[in-house]
Amino acid sequence: MVFQLSNECADYIKSHLPEELQQPRVAIVCGSGLGGIVNGLAASPRVVLPYESLPGFSVSTVVGHAGKLVVGLVGDNRVPVVLMLGRFHFYEGHDMAATAYPVRVFAQLGIKTLIATNAAGGLRSGFQVGDLMVLNDHLNMPGLVGFHPLRGSNDDRFGVRFPPLSDAYSLELRQGVRTALKELGISRNVHEGTYAFVCGPTYETRTEVRYLTAVGADAVGMSTIPEVIVARHSGLDVLAISLITNVAVSVKPPSAHSAVPATSMEDGMANHQEVLDAALEAANDIQAVIVQVVNKL
Ligand code: 6GU
Repeated sequence: MVFQLSNECADYIKSHLPEELQQPRVAIVCGSGLGGIVNGLAASPRVVLPYESLPGFSVSTVVGHAGKLVVGLVGDNRVPVVLMLGRFHFYEGHDMAATAYPVRVFAQLGIKTLIATNAAGGLRSGFQVGDLMVLNDHLNMPGLVGFHPLRGSNDDRFGVRFPPLSDAYSLELRQGVRTALKELGISRNVHEGTYAFVCGPTYETRTEVRYLTAVGADAVGMSTIPEVIVARHSGLDVLAISLITNVAVSVKPPSAHSAVPATSMEDGMANHQEVLDAALEAANDIQAVIVQVVNKL
């Protein structure tokens, strides 16, 4: 079913693409406020496809996310790419397979590399707002308790029943980011680490932050991992980059038993505006890095 639908969608997309864009090589999923990379595409040829027009696509509902694919050329080497502006989140009510459905379509299009960006909360001590983290592993919290994009009968035309994820994040692409940062002279802190995928839409409690930190997560967010898993299922190479938009708070809340609270209740409370502001600032750097990496593929 999904194979047929995503195949139909890929055909629909190809039928709208000029010769030069017929074989996109990379798909780039843009996170909250990280859609600026669209400005790194050549002005023409460029094809915009709203999700409403695409067979099997849902409609994205979160503020700060558009709902369209943009197909165009990146960099001096004019590498054909598909940009996904607006993604589907589990917390919006889409089921896990629907959140990753676009990646099925990308696989059907013959795309070989998935690049995903997201906004994330920093967990590792020392992480600051505006830092980047290149994923080298993940913790799939919903997946561990049964919400998994590959749950259900397996379609061998996509991939194997039991795909390994121990090396989900391409070393070569991660090295490519290092090289790009150097070449571009970007001084922003760039870490590598483990992204914890949680459902949301609430941000973590202080106890949840301590829990995720204790098991080795370095950043936490509400996206990306379903797409990564489906990409790996179909053998795509994956690069994923988190923009640290806020730092999660783990200290215990003020106690009603003490006369003078040690911390204020407002300290470190995450909010969506903070996320969008930090994304705006770092977006240019991420965009430049991705253009540089893609141009060398
Ligand atoms: Cl602190 N938590 C989650 N779950 N997602 C986020 C975030 C935090 N910051 C940005 N996205």
